[in-house]
Amino acid sequence: MRPACAVSRLLTLNLPRASAPHAVVAGTLIRRYLSLGAELGARPLDGPGLRAFLRPRSRGEVAEEGAGEDAPPYVKREPASGRSVYFETYGCQMNVNDTEIAWSILQKNGYQKASSCTEADVILLVTCSIREKAEQTIWNRLKQLAALKSKRAKSQVPLKIGILGCMAERLKEEILEKEKLVDILAGPDSYRDLPRLLTITATGQKAVNVLLSLDETYADVMPVQVNSQAKTALISIMRGCNNMCSYCIVPFTRGRERSRPISSILQEVKILSDQVLQLIQERANICKQIHLPAQSGSTAMLKAMRRGYTREAYLELVEHVRKIIPGVSLSSDFIAGFCGETEDDHLQTISLLRQVQYNVGYLFAYSLRKKTHAHHKMKDSVPAVVKQRRLEELIAVFREEATKLNTELVGTEQVVLVEGASKRSKVELCGRNDANIKVIIPNLVIPCDWSPDMHASIRPGDYISVQITSASSQSLKGTPIYFTTLNKSAMVTSKQLDTVSDRQ
Ligand code: 5AD
Repeated sequence: MRPACAVSRLLTLNLPRASAPHAVVAGTLIRRYLSLGAELGARPLDGPGLRAFLRPRSRGEVAEEGAGEDAPPYVKREPASGRSVYFETYGCQMNVNDTEIAWSILQKNGYQKASSCTEADVILLVTCSIREKAEQTIWNRLKQLAALKSKRAKSQVPLKIGILGCMAERLKEEILEKEKLVDILAGPDSYRDLPRLLTITATGQKAVNVLLSLDETYADVMPVQVNSQAKTALISIMRGCNNMCSYCIVPFTRGRERSRPISSILQEVKILSDQVLQLIQERANICKQIHLPAQSGSTAMLKAMRRGYTREAYLELVEHVRKIIPGVSLSSDFIAGFCGETEDDHLQTISLLRQVQYNVGYLFAYSLRKKTHAHHKMKDSVPAVVKQRRLEELIAVFREEATKLNTELVGTEQVVLVEGASKRSKVELCGRNDANIKVIIPNLVIPCDWSPDMHASIRPGDYISVQITSASSQSLKGTPIYFTTLNKSAMVTSKQLDTVSDRQ
C-alpha cells in the first residue's frame, strides 16, 4: 500500500489477540486490525440500526433503497438483476475506503461481486490523481480493458467500465473524449449515485456525476470490504482537504474538508468490536476470557481517575459482552483507596464485584506515582491502614464470588489445554479450561476419545477432557478422562454454555 496522500483521514483500530477491543488513534489515521483472522465481509450484528445514525439527506443525494424522492423521475433505478462488479483500487488508503463505500452501495442495490475482471459485467477503477504516474497507470490499464470490452461487445450483457474517484473528478472531459470505452464517471462525492449511473449505461449511454459536495461523508454507509479475507481495514473520519498546498491536486479532486459525524465513526468502531466478540464466541480455539479493568465501582472515583465511563456504562458493557459470549469469563483490575475515596465509594466497588462476578481479579492498594495527574492535582487522602483494609475486603469479596463461579463447575467436564507441570506438586499437571481458569490434574495415562484402545500419558499441548472434582477461588481440580480435540470440545462447551446462560 502506498503512503496515504494528504487527504487521508482514517483511524487505526488495533484489536489485539484475545483481549478487550480498544482503539489506538495515531494522528488522523485509524486502521482497523483484525489479527484474529476476522472476515469483515459482512458487518452488522445487533445494536442500533444504521438508520438511527442517518443524518438528513443533503441536496443531490440519492436515497439508499428504491428510487427515492431525490432520484430524477425519468430514470427509474432498475434492480441490478445480479450484475457482477469488479473493483480495481489504485492509490492511497482513502481510495481503499472509497472502494468499500462504493461496494457497500452497490451490494445493497443487488450487485454481486465478480471474482475476476474477466467474469465481471461492470469493472470499476478507483483512481488516483496525485502524481502523473498514478494517472498513467490508469490510462495503460484502460488500454488493456479495451480488448476485454470489445470481446463482450455483442454479448447480451456488454461489459461496462467506470472510472471512480480523483481521476474522474480531474479529467472528466478528457476521459470521455479520449477513451470511448469508459461508460461511467463518478467523482468521490457521487458514489450514492452509482446505481442510477449504472442503470443509465444499460441503455448504451454514458453516465457522469462529478459533482463535489460540501457535506458528503457517507456517514450512514457502512463500508464493506471487497476482500473478505483482509486482516486490516480502514475507518474514514473525514474527507477532502482545505490546505491548498501549492503542489497538490487533492483539494480540487476531493473537495472541501469535512468531518464524518462522531456518532457514525463510533458506530462503525462498535460494530467492529462486536465482530471481535462474535469471533471469540464462534471459534473454539479462542479462549473465552476478557479483561475489563474497572478500577472502581463508584462513578465519582471513575471520574476522579479520568476513566471516561460511569459505573452504569461499565455494567452495560459487561451485559453486552455476556450477551454475545454467554458464559464468558471476566477478569478485572481494581484500585482500593484512590485519592478522595470514601467508605461509600468503596462499598460501591464491593457491590460491583458482587454484581459482575469475576473469574480473575487483580486488586491493588493505590500508591501515588510521581508525575501523574493525581500527584500534581490530588491529595492521597486515604490513610495506608484504611487502604489496606479496603483492599483486603475487596480481595475477600472477589474470592467469595470467584469461588461460587468455580464451584458451579464441580461435576462438569471441562476441556483443558495442558500447559505443564503444576508449580505446587511434581506429580500434578496444570492446564487451563476455555475460560482461562487454571485446572490442576494428576499425571495419568488416559485413553483417546477417538480410539479408546489407545492410551498415553499427558503432555503439554494436549487437549484433554477433565471431570472437575473441586474448586477454589483461583483454580479447579479434576480427573483427566480422555484426550480430545478442539472440535469435539466445542460441542461439550456449547452444552455447558446452555447451563451458564440459564443462570444469567
Ligand atoms: N496504584 C495502584 N494501582 C495502580 N495501577 C496502576 N497504577 C496504579 C497505582 N498508582 C493498577 C491498575 C492497572 C493495573 C495494571 O495496575 O489497576 O489497571
